[in-house]
Amino acid sequence: MSTDQSVPSAEQAGQDTASAAGRPAGLEAILLVGGYGTRLRPLTLSSPKHLLPTAGAPFLAHQMAKAASCGVTRMVLATSYRAEMFREQFGDGSSLGLEIDYVHEEQPLGTGGAIRNAASGLHSAPGDPVVVLNGDVLSGHDLAGQVRAHQEASAAVTLHLVEVPDPSRFGCVPTDSSGRVTAFLEKTPNPVTNRINAGCYVFTRSAIDAIPAGRVVSVEHETFPDLIAAGAVVQGYPDTAYWLDVGTPETFVRGSCDLVLGRLASPALPGPCGEALVLPGAVVEPGAKLSGGSVIGSGCRVGAGAQVEGSVLFDGVTVGAGAAVRNSALGRDVRIGDAAVLDGVVIGDGALIASGNELSCGMRVWPGVDIGPTSIRFSTDA
Ligand code: GDD
Ligand code: MG
Repeated sequence: MSTDQSVPSAEQAGQDTASAAGRPAGLEAILLVGGYGTRLRPLTLSSPKHLLPTAGAPFLAHQMAKAASCGVTRMVLATSYRAEMFREQFGDGSSLGLEIDYVHEEQPLGTGGAIRNAASGLHSAPGDPVVVLNGDVLSGHDLAGQVRAHQEASAAVTLHLVEVPDPSRFGCVPTDSSGRVTAFLEKTPNPVTNRINAGCYVFTRSAIDAIPAGRVVSVEHETFPDLIAAGAVVQGYPDTAYWLDVGTPETFVRGSCDLVLGRLASPALPGPCGEALVLPGAVVEPGAKLSGGSVIGSGCRVGAGAQVEGSVLFDGVTVGAGAAVRNSALGRDVRIGDAAVLDGVVIGDGALIASGNELSCGMRVWPGVDIGPTSIRFSTDA
């Protein structure tokens, strides 16, 4: 990452930086990927949410590609739940043109504890900027611009901020007229602004090293409020580009569809944007209609006259003739009977939804469950 020479950089100000010490100045990032993904169960019983197939790639691949396009060359994954699956997926990162390291937490250390723990895998010097990403966010914001803003403000931490209609589900982040963060209120029932923490931080490395080691720490509940109270420069980086936390079934499906539709460009999308992405080895029979940014996974079969709209089908799914699947996520090897109707549901790996069923309204079916013919209906016109 080049430094804007119009303002004094940490290096010019005499701090120790990687480039001052003769090391390459590629940007490092920590990816927080240790959560259980409980809101996405049952899909996350067999996989961390960060690896769920999203627009034809593991979710994290989209975040990694975006970070790489903004100058990140080295990533440290802070893992805990199903840690081994990350290494199996990404290895040392060389196939992605990246350097990837893994730092494991036996017991989850919370967001701050995970960042502190992952610092053992960083090469950055105390004055260097380090990007930290929540591993479940799609964002079109200018990450390189956020790093520049961080350096220009000589901040301890710079937080990407976005505005959402319901800030109570996020970290509420008021700022003053200069953009400096004045408080951090995590999931408060009485948010004072619609501006929220978007889950992408630039830390000065020394601020990471100041987080207590070896215990559970939350950046949202402890680190950020403490830094603000101590008078440290915690800067906001507000932005209006595409942003979505994919941590719920509804937003996970929406995020995948948005990537396929091209509402957010991703270098990791394995095909052209359009109404649907049909992965190699899938069969779509005549008269079937695919729309809304749906993904049809490898080995899937969509029967004649079936409709798949705004949905994510993992590998090996069968959708019977005349069935309708809308706004839903279907796990691996799910089977949907002829003329069944699904709208806004999550079906776990290997489950069977036989003909004559109508599932909707956020229903979740656990892996391997068989729902026999005409067992569940919402409409009365059977
Ligand atoms: N390694 C590790 N260890 N990772 C963790 C741990 C842990 O103990 N706890 C959570 N994570 C990871 C999750 O896997 C996820 O990638 C990220 O940290 C954030 O956790 P979530 O569970 O997704 O948090 P959230 O969505 O409720 O809230 C967070 O994100 C919002 C933006 O999407 C907070 O940072 C909010 O302030 C923010 O507004
Ligand atoms: Mg989240």
